[in-house]
This record gives sequence, structure tokens and C-alpha cells, in this order.
Amino acid sequence: MATIAEKVARPEIRQTQCFIGGKWIPSASGKTFDTLHPATEEVIAQVAEGDAADIDLAVDAARAQFDGGEWSKLSARERGNLMLKFADLLEEHADELAALETLDNGKPINDARAGDIPLVIQCIRYYAGWADKIQGDTIPIDGEFFCYTRREPVGVVGQIIPWNFPALMAAWKWGPALATGCTVVMKPAEQTPLTCLRMARLAQHAGIPDGVINVVPGYGPTAGAALVKHPGVDKIAFTGELATAKIIQRAATDTMKRLTFELGGKSPNVIFADADLEAAAAGAHTALYFNQGQCCCAGSRLFVEDRIHDEMVDRLTDMNQQRKLGDPFDPETEQGPQVDQAQFDKIMQYVEYGKEDGAKCVSGGERFGDQGYFVEPTLFTGVTDDMRIAQDEIFGPVLSVMKFSDIDEMVARANNTNFGLAAAVWTRDIGKAHQFAKQVRAGTVWVNCYDVFDSAAPFGGYKESGIGRELGAAGLDAYTENKTVTVALS
Ligand code: NAI
Ligand code: MG
Repeated sequence: MATIAEKVARPEIRQTQCFIGGKWIPSASGKTFDTLHPATEEVIAQVAEGDAADIDLAVDAARAQFDGGEWSKLSARERGNLMLKFADLLEEHADELAALETLDNGKPINDARAGDIPLVIQCIRYYAGWADKIQGDTIPIDGEFFCYTRREPVGVVGQIIPWNFPALMAAWKWGPALATGCTVVMKPAEQTPLTCLRMARLAQHAGIPDGVINVVPGYGPTAGAALVKHPGVDKIAFTGELATAKIIQRAATDTMKRLTFELGGKSPNVIFADADLEAAAAGAHTALYFNQGQCCCAGSRLFVEDRIHDEMVDRLTDMNQQRKLGDPFDPETEQGPQVDQAQFDKIMQYVEYGKEDGAKCVSGGERFGDQGYFVEPTLFTGVTDDMRIAQDEIFGPVLSVMKFSDIDEMVARANNTNFGLAAAVWTRDIGKAHQFAKQVRAGTVWVNCYDVFDSAAPFGGYKESGIGRELGAAGLDAYTENKTVTVALS
């Protein structure tokens, strides 16, 4: 019996070249970079290292399809039907994609199978349904005129995605792009290029014309930066770190590109004493430790009402002790490794900062095992708002627990961050829940739940957590231009 890793070793699955105009091509420079399996640190494959020359080719291919190519001539319904075929093919290959994701990213196979890949399929199907429902308005203006609007695709879209949900981030970006009739050049994260490349091939098998989806693997400051600067690109959609977004925003100014950003967070998760404490504890555990803590919306600041604080810490500590770390291909595994050495080092540095700043590490705080980038589920109590572990996005399995007693003060503290991606509240009092939902400055608020994602529900950030929304009808806005047409009737 072949192991799962061996099953996805077949060259047609483990693609490693640039996918441009429907063809696999090596990088123009001939350079490659390694991608690793984070649980063993073994090299899985050498991947083409794209740079400006490859981005040029990819943009040419995307422009040719957008500016009068086969894609631009399809009806909206035909585009939707191709997307439905694409979703069916993704579904047919779900096990293979999940295994490839676990291999490249290190996330537990159960998460990839039950979470990432089903959401990928749902997202493409959801946006397939939108393709023939994107329409303008007729507008009653003064005078003898007929005025209407058309919603037109924005053009060639450069999409730059991170490594925490590689396949899902590709789907979030391709869904609205294909539905609206845009074409795409995607730069996947250098840590995790494999699922994106495979998905691009499946899109081709579904009949999506060559050149509509192009994928150029490579590094951010080279391939990514070339995409951002390219005059043939109309819009950049980026998910990743705030500091990178600021570089992109500056670089995109010269060509006045449309920009959407989905960035980080330091999301407050609030537990009131009147909550279902068992559910709240389980929710708080998942909110932070899911995906090894590598979630932009991770509930990393846990505010607990003071009279249940100690009980909640006990519950969370117990869950941490029971959490099963290990081989991500083992279906029993709940937590895999962090994605790479850099992330591992960053997290361990923050564990040190927590200790230096006077917080108490009540569980975890150490490396797990001696190979792979595993970090024990870590919990700090006695965290104050000014500590580095309360301020910065750690992007790892490190939870900061804070106490509160007064609600107004807690809300002010919850909002005392430059981020505003998500928030959650646990209470049986619906008034309190809705008050908090209204007062918190965040793009998503979960009440008595966490990490509930659906392609139909918009997602995105306030403040420095981003610009624009992904998913839902709102996710289409940034992929369309609004054209006003006025016709004299006499
Ligand atoms: P990053 O923002 O540098 O990387 C994300 C993507 O941007 C990658 O595809 C990368 O190649 C690309 N990129 C990097 N520099 C670029 C540039 N100058 N121009 C164009 N593209 C560029 O994030 P990184 O370094 O992987 O992770 C650092 C931290 O960022 C993490 O520890 C975490 O705090 C945060 N992060 C947040 C994510 C989120 O979902 N909000 C996802 C990934 C990271
Ligand atoms: Mg970076």
C-alpha cells in the first residue's frame, strides 16, 4: 500500500513549474526553490522560482484572454457552467488535494479533508451561481434620458496569497474573479505552492480557457513585487501580513491599481460568566489553536469575566494537555507543525516576550518533539493589554488570557488594537451579545460560536485588518467596475 504522501507524488499531481497560458513552463531564470514537509523538514519538491520575466508572460496570457480572447466572449451563464464543472472536478479530487495540502502545509489531514477542501468546492460553486446574476441598475435621472449601469469585470487581477490555507485562499480569490469575467495571475506563498498549481490544472480540465488562470510560484519581493508593479494588471488582491500590505499599497500607487487586503488580527474572544462554560471553553480552544494558531481571525486575546477566570483556565489547560500533536497524516492528529522555521522562531520569540513581560505560562511554551516545527499549545495568564503578546499577531498556538469585570471597560480594551478582523462573545444574555456585536470594531462577530465560515457570508477587516470584503455578494464588488450609460431619448 502506497502511503498518502506517495500517492500524491505522481508528477501530474505534484506540479512544480509555472502554469502560464495553460502550459507548464520552467522559470525564465531556470531557478528553483525547495518546498518542505513541515512535519519532517524533508524537501518535497523543487519548484520553479518565478520572477519579473515570468510575471510578464503570465500577464500577457491573462491580458490576451481578457482583451478579446475566448473567455471574454463567453456568456455569463457559460462562465458559471465552467465553474460548476471545475467544482465537480475539485470534488472528484478532494482526497488528493487534502493530502497535497497536508504534505505542503503540515496541517492535520482531518482538517484538510473536513475543512479546507470542502470549503474550496463550496466557494467555487457559490460563485458559479453568481456568474449570471451580476447586474446593473436603471436609474431615473432628470430629463429625457435613459440611464443605466453595467457591472463589468475589473480586468486582469494579480492575486497574492499566504500559506495558512493555501487551497482555500486560491478559491476565495478565483471564485469572484471567474464569476465576474476577470482573468488571473496568482502568486502562491513560497511555502505552499503545490495545491494552487494542481487546482489550476483542474480548472483547465474543466474547460476554463488557457490563460484565464495563471500561476507563478516564487518569492514576494521578486515575483510578488513584479506583479504589483505591472502596468498590465488592473487590481491586486492580497492576503497576508500588514507590513507586506503597506509595501504593496505604496508600490501600487504608480499604476493606480484597485486594491483589496485581507490582513491580520488580534481578535478578542469574550466569555461572560453566564455563558455555557463547557461550550465556551471548547470554542475558545478551537478559536486559537485551530490550524496551529495560523489563522488571521484567531481568537488570540481571550477576555474572561473574573469570577469564572480560574475555572476557565483549568478547562483550557486540560484541553491543551489532551491535544494530540504529531504526524499530520495520522487521522487522530489535532495539531501539526507550524509552516516553517521562520514562523517557529517567531512564535518561540513571543513565548520569551510573554515571560519577560511578566505573564505566566501555565501550559506549553516548548518545542514538541525533535523534528518538524511543532510548538506545544501554549497558554499565558496574567496578561495585560500593553504586553507584546497582547498586542502583536503571533500566528501560532499561543493564547493570552485576560480578566475583566466591567463590560464597558472590556469593550474599550477589546477595541484597543489597530486590528479589527473578528471578535466573539459567549453569553446566554442576548442583549449583551447584540450590544457587544454592535460595539466591537471588527468585520466579523461570532456569538456563541467561532470560525463559522460560509462562502455566502462576507469576511474582511476594519482598521488595519484590511480593505474590502471577500465572500458573499460583497466579495464581487472589488472585481467589478460600475459603468454608467446615459442615452438621450429625444
Ligand atoms: P507575507 O505577507 O510576507 O506573505 C504573504 C504573501 O505575500 C506571500 O505569497 C509572499 O510571497 C507575498 N509577499 C511577501 N512580500 C511581498 C512583496 N514585497 N510584494 C508582493 N508580495 C509579497 O507573510 P509571511 O512573511 O509569510 O508571514 C509573516 C506574518 O504575517 C505571519 O507570522 C503572520 O503574522 C502574518 N500572516 C497573516 C496572514 C493572514 O491570513 N492574515 C497569512 C500569512 C501571514
Ligand atoms: Mg514576509
